[in-house]
Amino acid sequence: MKIPAHGKPKNQIKSELKAFAARDLPWREGKTLAYIYDPGPEIEEIAKWAYMEFLTENGLDPTVYPSMMLIENELIAMASSHLGDVPGVVGNFTSGGTESCMLAVKTARDFARATKPQIKEPEIILPVTAHAAFHKGCHYLGVKKVLVPVDPKTFKADPAAIERAITPNTVLIVASAVSYAHGVLDPIEAIGKIAEKHKLLFHVDGCIGGFLLPYFKRLGAKLGEFDFRVPGVTSMSMDYHKYAYCPKGASVILHRSKDLRRFQMYAAADWTGYTIINPTIQSSKTGGPMAAAWAVLNTLGDDGYMRFAKRIHDATHIIVEGIRKNPHLRLLGEPDLNLVAFTADEFSCFHIIDEMKARGWYVQPQFGYHGSEPNVHLSIGQNVFEMAHEFAAALDDAAEAARPKGFSQIAAKVKSELARMNPADFKPAMLADLMRGAGIEDGQLPRKSAELNQILNVLPPKVTEFALIEFMNERYVYREKK
Ligand SMILES: Cc1ncc(COP(=O)(O)O)c(C=O)c1O
Repeated sequence: MKIPAHGKPKNQIKSELKAFAARDLPWREGKTLAYIYDPGPEIEEIAKWAYMEFLTENGLDPTVYPSMMLIENELIAMASSHLGDVPGVVGNFTSGGTESCMLAVKTARDFARATKPQIKEPEIILPVTAHAAFHKGCHYLGVKKVLVPVDPKTFKADPAAIERAITPNTVLIVASAVSYAHGVLDPIEAIGKIAEKHKLLFHVDGCIGGFLLPYFKRLGAKLGEFDFRVPGVTSMSMDYHKYAYCPKGASVILHRSKDLRRFQMYAAADWTGYTIINPTIQSSKTGGPMAAAWAVLNTLGDDGYMRFAKRIHDATHIIVEGIRKNPHLRLLGEPDLNLVAFTADEFSCFHIIDEMKARGWYVQPQFGYHGSEPNVHLSIGQNVFEMAHEFAAALDDAAEAARPKGFSQIAAKVKSELARMNPADFKPAMLADLMRGAGIEDGQLPRKSAELNQILNVLPPKVTEFALIEFMNERYVYREKK
């Protein structure tokens, strides 16, 4: 494809772009329980206005765009007061949870380089429920991840397992407030004590839960401390683009002190161009997400968020009780917030995803890993409130329809073949056969996903990772429209 020889009229541009979105998730109907954080049209409008107003400002150099630093500092001050209001806490605005988590890894690695130069192979302790963003951070930054099991019933991090995993090379402990998969709050106070005892850095990942947790506490939820009031906590991440309902590209990383935050930053003066000083990963960056986040926080205000939290709380209660009452479904853990995982024993829970889709609802598959069985994930937003009973009824209906479908024969066969085989011997050609068996031809996903999900679920994680990269490598190629 070439750049068009002549520019197209605006109307054509608009209609062509709109047509691209035709097959995207129909989230505006409110029936999407993952990916989307929908605050409703009024908030969306002010967010869009602020985003466009600062679209062309460049956060690269706040001495030239002082507005960028001003807005960022206010966003960080609000985050810090929300997460314990502890003096001395500093932070930065980032493009999302993944960047915040990766910066926590970088900070720990570089802090160790400066203070414990004897460490040649730094290690990070991750409960298996910690978000994959930390795995990515370790992968990009050359840090070893040390995975530790969690409590098999509650799915909360196990402080004793964390303490056992500490070695002279440990540079950071990570825990979640709350975990994405099961929505549970790790025992932050107990882990904080271990971090203090061993003089280790401790990052609490509040990307998805950090903003909402204080509101759930105010609504009466009995939850332990999880923020900077826990003495051992040295850094935290929290996403404004999740339950603070800001447009995507909005997260923060906070450190207990400037002395620690220094190791997050990067400067480069040894080249021919302008001097680089980047507090975060991006260099040139639009001011849109920052201005939009500021606008949304200031438009909703604390009372607006409290109203949202109550809606989220009540919708979650209705849906969780519905799952509890259904004899064919089983919750995994007891969610502390609004993120729920459930499974089924008599049939593959992945059929529920197809059945829900047929009823107009989008819910997310999660594969089995380390005692967490394959399950269905729900992220319950404020927009689900009015439809919570309808959702629960659809889920009962979907479970009933899924019951006779049982389990995949192909997945069972793959599982037994893999059991006899060294995963390293797994060849791409075998994968192509499997994918064909699951209904994937020419890289196109099947209309029903249960078969594919069951097969992916039995593959060793390394093979799944390989398969996913192959799949994406194939898909990100321009093809002439037929
Ligand atoms: C606990 C947690 N940490 C990190 C992330 C990564 O955030 P993002 O998708 O914004 O990069 C997520 C995303 O859901 C999350 O739930």
